[in-house]
Amino acid sequence: MNSFIYDIPTKVYFGEGQLGNLGKELRRFGRRVLLTYGGGSIKRIGLYDRVMEELRSADLEVFELSGIEPNPRIDSVREGVKMCKEHNIDVLLAVGGGSTIDATKFMAAGACVEHDAWEFFGANAKPIERALPIVTILTLAATGSEMDSGGVISNLATGDKLGRLAPAMQPKVSFLDPTLTYSVSRYQTACGAADIMSHIIEVYFNMNKDLYMLDCMMEGLLKTVVKFAPIAANEPENYEARANLMWCSSWAINGFINGGKRKAWSCHPMEHELSAKYDITHGLGLAILTPRWMRYCLDETNVERYVSFGVGVFGIDPSKAPMTIAEEAIERLEHLFFVELGLQRTFAEVGIKREDYELMAAKACRYGDIRGFKTLTPDDVVRIFEMCE
Ligand code: NZQ
Ligand code: ZN
Repeated sequence: MNSFIYDIPTKVYFGEGQLGNLGKELRRFGRRVLLTYGGGSIKRIGLYDRVMEELRSADLEVFELSGIEPNPRIDSVREGVKMCKEHNIDVLLAVGGGSTIDATKFMAAGACVEHDAWEFFGANAKPIERALPIVTILTLAATGSEMDSGGVISNLATGDKLGRLAPAMQPKVSFLDPTLTYSVSRYQTACGAADIMSHIIEVYFNMNKDLYMLDCMMEGLLKTVVKFAPIAANEPENYEARANLMWCSSWAINGFINGGKRKAWSCHPMEHELSAKYDITHGLGLAILTPRWMRYCLDETNVERYVSFGVGVFGIDPSKAPMTIAEEAIERLEHLFFVELGLQRTFAEVGIKREDYELMAAKACRYGDIRGFKTLTPDDVVRIFEMCE
């Protein structure tokens, strides 16, 4: 069992009616705020006006950067860095989903250095030692960016989508109000659920001897998503469903379930290449890949992990043969993603072409073979892509 450090320094305001604390929390860091958001959903749901009212009543000076795209671009980050420097920003307030929060993290880090923000990424990445403080208001349950120290940025010029972790970018405060996700579409709700589940599955599928308690936690989080994602998709204003998904999104990736595991993730590096090349939604790519990857990795030596998963998450009868349980568990996951949540099932349906497999596989393995649950070479990645056709 691994030793580990547990340190999650994000203060969370969870539930409806917490935004009244926003001004007070921002004032802890200064007066000059850079408000960042995406393509306008926060205006459509009336959140923008509520936030501005809070900021005004706390006598904060507000600068705005809007238009952060899904799969956020380095150009938006650069624009934010420039604004932070020009206006001597004290604190950044990200209002939106993972894309807005991720981009804001690198604006906050970029504001503290002289070099270009893209130099934070890649094999010779520059260190991220400091960042301006970040506060978030989450509007989509998916990535967990509201409570982790990572982010993923796309560069259209190089065709890359690269991630980076740095404790300095961990949000200081996050507001998690489930009612702000009532307006999230059925499609984005489904993609978010697939993303949350993938963050847990990437950790759960591991042959290390881990704390039993963490296995139970992961199964509990997964069961919660299995139960509430279809409810949220069908009844968008079901508070209980939205609240459960929102809190699962944070706990799936805030470091707690890791318990010191150092195994690489598998589906995420593959998916980031799909998003980089085709600009598809991250959670959709994961939904297509994850069951296929599970099937590709399954063998007699690791089947017990699938059995725990099938019994613990889907309640499959443990007296069945292990291989039967494993296959049934994968089918139940596919049923959730593709039938109950209605996500597309194949690369063909989302327009991903055979001719790009080799290049995407090579890029997924840019730092070497993927040393996750099972080591994957570029050839393995191509085989998994073929299973998604
Ligand atoms: O841009 P707006 O108008 O706000 O619309 C967004 C966007 O079109 C919309 N949306 C968000 N909240 C809404 C809403 N629509 C209606 N009502 C609301 N309340 O949803 C669309 C998708 O938003 P986005 O922020 O892109 O989604 P998500 O939260 O899934 O973020 C995805 C990004 O996060 C990265 C992904 O790779 C992707 O780039 N990830 C970040 C991680 C992290 N920081 O730890 C981990 C993840 O594995 C992931 O890689
Ligand atoms: Zn993810």
